[in-house]
Amino acid sequence: FSAVDVIRAKRDGARLSDDQIDWVIDAYTRGAVADEQMSALAMAVFLNGMDTDETARWTAAMVDSGETLTLHSDRPTVDKHSTGGVGDKITLPLAPLVAACGAAVPQLSGRGLGHTGGTLDKLESIPGWRARLTTEEILAQLRDVGAVVCAATEGLAPADRKLYALRDVTGTVESIPLIASSIMSKKIAEGADALVLDVKFGSGAFMKTADDARALAKALVGIGVSRGLKISALITDMSIPLGRAVGNAVEVAESIEVLRGDGPADVVELTLALAREMLDLAGLSDVDPGRMLASGEAYETWARMIRAQGGDPEAPLPEPKHVHVIKADRDGVVTKLDAYAVGVAAWRLGAGRARKEDPVQAAAGILCHAKPGESVRAGDPVLELRTDTPEAVDAALSTLVGSYEIGDTAPEIGPLILETLR
Ligand code: URA
Repeated sequence: FSAVDVIRAKRDGARLSDDQIDWVIDAYTRGAVADEQMSALAMAVFLNGMDTDETARWTAAMVDSGETLTLHSDRPTVDKHSTGGVGDKITLPLAPLVAACGAAVPQLSGRGLGHTGGTLDKLESIPGWRARLTTEEILAQLRDVGAVVCAATEGLAPADRKLYALRDVTGTVESIPLIASSIMSKKIAEGADALVLDVKFGSGAFMKTADDARALAKALVGIGVSRGLKISALITDMSIPLGRAVGNAVEVAESIEVLRGDGPADVVELTLALAREMLDLAGLSDVDPGRMLASGEAYETWARMIRAQGGDPEAPLPEPKHVHVIKADRDGVVTKLDAYAVGVAAWRLGAGRARKEDPVQAAAGILCHAKPGESVRAGDPVLELRTDTPEAVDAALSTLVGSYEIGDTAPEIGPLILETLR
């Protein structure tokens, strides 16, 4: 094969053959296809697409570029993946909850880049907690605790690691076949029997409209089905932040409220809906996750999961050096709170990073004291900005201009969970 022939074929709108796909992914992983060639191919895919079979083969080739975990467990294994959002801490309460219900939950996660936070960054605000585990430690923790949230090991889908970094700098991220194969290659390599996807739409999400989210969900589910995975997808609204907390330590604190049977209604609703879907796929639909939250069993599993990774679940979480409160300038009801603006503002306060190698601030973030539909009086706190770097407040404030509004009548708020695709 020649890389130029493969690029020309896709450039001219042809379907790539299985052999071409296997060859190009393998040769790129080995360094035999150059970055400039792969970026030309990625752009050709971006422009001309791939059909369902091509996308499934592309995914399989990326899985085969590295190792796959074999999860020996006497419990059914089930995983969740979210396409990312603002205040999306759902993995934190969900993994221990579903484990408490009897499944094994291997949740290999990433770090945040841009306005969406990373699960590992959030958990690292817990004193002592470590994200990097060996494969042996992952398997042992799945057996002993039932839930593990940790960094993906280097050996899983190395082709995707390389290709995603390349797409990031060549304007080729926003392609459904490339996104779907990227996500699914990692999830398939991780070896769970079942997978529930939370595909988000709205300003704070990757996909801005419900139609785009639906198309991505279809592509993801199609790849899963082609691999014999039990899979389903929830399409969920990400136009306002999820819960009240956006950031790192603040999201851990809110997750703990949920695990203690309390917490914001939207976070509880989505956690329970995803838990029910996961338990259904795992053949455990007779267990009631709501009872596990109320009884404290989910919290107990959380505490064991955190301790198993060196963390102290009872330790106080870091507090910010500086707090700036935005207050309501009138009586009324909150009519708007834009997820994207809140995500970017939290990121500017230090909760996120601009470059992969940057550190994040554990205590940075935003608390949304008043959300759409809630009444406020003049002087009530609306948004609380938290940071260790007070000089970042001005940038966050300028991001938030126009992002929230207080009016006279309560806004229409659509359903959080639009539909489920099976
Ligand atoms: N997340 C991924 O893992 N890959 C993509 O391509 C986009 C989002």
